[in-house]
Amino acid sequence: MTPDWLDIGRLDEIPVRGARTVPVAGGEEIAVFRTGDDRVFALVNRCPHKKGPLSQGIVHGHSVTCPLHNWNIALATGEAQGEDRGCTPTVPVRIVSGRVLIGRAAALAAA
Ligand code: FES
Repeated sequence: MTPDWLDIGRLDEIPVRGARTVPVAGGEEIAVFRTGDDRVFALVNRCPHKKGPLSQGIVHGHSVTCPLHNWNIALATGEAQGEDRGCTPTVPVRIVSGRVLIGRAAALAAA
């Protein structure tokens, strides 16, 4: 049986206030973000505006600024902030023994 959680590597391999991307077989690329306070969030790597690669944005607090047109996206919900409207699908993420796991089913459903 396929495990429900995908192990994508160690937390300390993700730069603080940065992200790494994870291809999901049969799904869409996922961006996994690490914040300054060591929280981890996973979203589809696609801005709700015009599909900018959120993984290349700047992380501040628990948000990321899209590199294309500077929309701010809340990492916990995927919602655009302020006047902007749109939502990027989020993926469950957990840390177990310093390793980052993402929900396989949600990663596929988000695609
Ligand atoms: S594509 Fe992200 S702000 Fe336009």
